[in-house]
Amino acid sequence: MKIVIKIGGHLLSTPMSIVDLDYVRELASVLEDIKRKHEMIIVTGGGSLSRFYIDALRKRGINEALCDLMGIEISRLNALFLSLFIGGPIKIPNTVEDVLDYSSRRKIIVMGGLQPGQSTTTTAAIIAETIKADLLIIATNVEGIYTRDPFKDPSAKKIDEITIDQLKEMFREKEVKAGTYPLIDYMTLRILERAKIPAVVVNGRPPMNIIRAIRGENIGTRIRMK
Ligand SMILES: Nc1ncnc2c1ncn2[C@@H]1O[C@H](COP(=O)(O)OP(=O)(O)OP(=O)(O)O)[C@@H](O)[C@H]1O
Ligand SMILES: [Mg+2]
Repeated sequence: MKIVIKIGGHLLSTPMSIVDLDYVRELASVLEDIKRKHEMIIVTGGGSLSRFYIDALRKRGINEALCDLMGIEISRLNALFLSLFIGGPIKIPNTVEDVLDYSSRRKIIVMGGLQPGQSTTTTAAIIAETIKADLLIIATNVEGIYTRDPFKDPSAKKIDEITIDQLKEMFREKEVKAGTYPLIDYMTLRILERAKIPAVVVNGRPPMNIIRAIRGENIGTRIRMK
């Protein structure tokens, strides 16, 4: 299969350290396993480091597009780190054209964001569409999509399966600002819909959850077309 995996930036670090080395080691061995059977492109997010920079720039009056650019640079740093860690290439694709060019030669590519105004989750969906992926996995720091943000509302319930139309309804009104794109944004849903690519949102901790999602096990939230 061709798989695109979005690794939420919050997974790579903890509030205590920029790199959660134990986690990254575990993730690397899981990615090694996946590589034996599948082609994959990994898109890393910006995590808390990008939020620190973005908050500071925003307080300084810097506009959202430039704050986004800052976030993209951090997501690319995360990509470079992960790529080197797993013995991947040092060249991180910065455009869709780069991705197409590299993917003809490599079984694994790690990349960050591409464009201001676009979350790295949307980037992952666009890349999935471009390479005609069979599956998009969105690995984040919660068990899946909940009825509401589980950190803000402890009574929120995890959803096992949901359609794109239902999700569009849920995430229609959410804010789109640098560093505050929602877990699933409207643009991601539109891309998945037109490309007809199924997606699963899973907790990336432990990374084994990613393998379970690829196997089709009942884990996280499955996003269906209809
Ligand atoms: N309905 C919801 N279901 C699940 N999580 C939600 C929901 N609404 C908001 N969230 C929040 O989304 C967060 C995950 O999105 P966030 O953008 O912070 O991380 P990420 O996308 O994994 O990381 P990054 O943006 O750095 O790549 C969760 O920690 C949760 O607080
Ligand atoms: Mg995000």
